[in-house]
Amino acid sequence: MAFLCLDISCLYIFLLCKAFGCTLASNVEIKVNPPQNFEIVDPGYLGYLYLQWQPPLAVDNFKECTIEYELKYRNVDSAIWKTIITKNLHYKYGFDLNKGVEAKIHTLLSAHCANGSEVQSSWSEATYWKPEQGSLETKIRDMDCIYYNWQYLLCSWKPGIGVHFDTNYSLFYWYEGLDNVLQCAEYIKENGKNIGCRFPKLESPEYKDFFICVNGSSESSPIRSSYFIFELQNIVKPLPPDYLSLTVKNSFDINLTWSIPEGPIPARCFIYEILFTEAGRSWMTNTIENEMHITRALNESQELCFLVRSKVNIYCSDDGIWSEWSDEHCWEDFPYEERSFFSSGDTLLTYQFPFT
Ligand SMILES: *[C@@H]1O[C@H](CO)[C@@H](O)[C@H](O)[C@H]1NC(C)=O
Ligand SMILES: *[C@@H]1O[C@H](CO)[C@@H](O)[C@H](O)[C@H]1NC(C)=O
Ligand SMILES: *[C@@H]1O[C@H](CO)[C@@H](O)[C@H](O)[C@H]1NC(C)=O
Ligand SMILES: *[C@@H]1O[C@H](CO)[C@@H](O)[C@H](O)[C@H]1NC(C)=O
Ligand SMILES: *[C@@H]1O[C@H](CO)[C@@H](O)[C@H](O)[C@H]1NC(C)=O
Repeated sequence: MAFLCLDISCLYIFLLCKAFGCTLASNVEIKVNPPQNFEIVDPGYLGYLYLQWQPPLAVDNFKECTIEYELKYRNVDSAIWKTIITKNLHYKYGFDLNKGVEAKIHTLLSAHCANGSEVQSSWSEATYWKPEQGSLETKIRDMDCIYYNWQYLLCSWKPGIGVHFDTNYSLFYWYEGLDNVLQCAEYIKENGKNIGCRFPKLESPEYKDFFICVNGSSESSPIRSSYFIFELQNIVKPLPPDYLSLTVKNSFDINLTWSIPEGPIPARCFIYEILFTEAGRSWMTNTIENEMHITRALNESQELCFLVRSKVNIYCSDDGIWSEWSDEHCWEDFPYEERSFFSSGDTLLTYQFPFT
């Protein structure tokens, strides 16, 4: 028995055979259609796009079967496709809107519905480009965003090259949890023009995509928009420790300790870099503890000094920015006496933001 099958008709044959117990010839093919109306929808969240689709035609024929979809998506210049398999009819993802977006999807029919080997439909494809305006040079330059001490987000930028003097930029942002895109409420200005934004206190913005768009206007020419996606825990610049102590015991054993920087960052989230100086020679080392034991290299060294800076460690973020260095803390050798000096660097307690 040999069937030549096209699309849905195969299923009928397949199901009929299942019902009436006929044996299928090896050249019978089971086919499934691709999802319908596959599209990329931009809800206006500055890069957070909805990929959505409808079930394939004739899917009712597979009532007892699991229909799944394999979705592949990427920014157009990206070498790799991201892939997910889902039973849903939508997927949401944060894309870089400076570039185009492309996606493709096909239907998967599980193996037990298709005589032992999974069946795939052909692909449905969709693309999305945010309409562009203005030349590339009108975009802002050197965007720099820092999440100070896991508390205050601040971004700054430089105007595009050679833009007309009336050009003024605006910053918009969104992250999951906000109902709408918001505009910067407190711009940092230079000569009346916006060159940065001091964000208000944000409600749990970490560990999710944070979308920013800086666009602009000018009477003389359109201004190209710039898009950015951050995860705020990856751009944290903590405070340095503000209290250091150095103790020498038995002439040799040195105990360095420092305070955990103040603020909302948990103690387990820090890595420290220690710059230690003994008799004019310096070396650096890292630790995730807030103390360190070392041995004096030179018995006769008169002065031991160290300073510390901090960063969020790999257990809490993928990346981070080193804090400023703490004040230097030193110990001077006094025979027959065990001493330690303490310092509390006042300048470091009150954090100074740039642009204030
Ligand atoms: C179904 O599977 C059986 C056993 O693996 C095989 O003999 C038969 O040819 C297959 N039929 C189809 C239509 O693939
Ligand atoms: C730029 O925009 C800000 C508000 O976003 C406004 O206060 C300021 O006057 C504008 N500057 C110019 C030169 O248009
Ligand atoms: C800038 O982007 C915001 C948010 O998408 C939009 O509401 C606004 O109209 C844009 N402004 C310009 C000048 O394109
Ligand atoms: C190192 O110094 C700190 C604070 O001065 C102290 O709590 C700790 O016990 C000391 N550790 C050792 C091994 O001496
Ligand atoms: C280090 O110096 C002390 C005091 O000057 C001395 O008693 C001790 O023997 C010296 N130790 C070494 C290993 O040189």
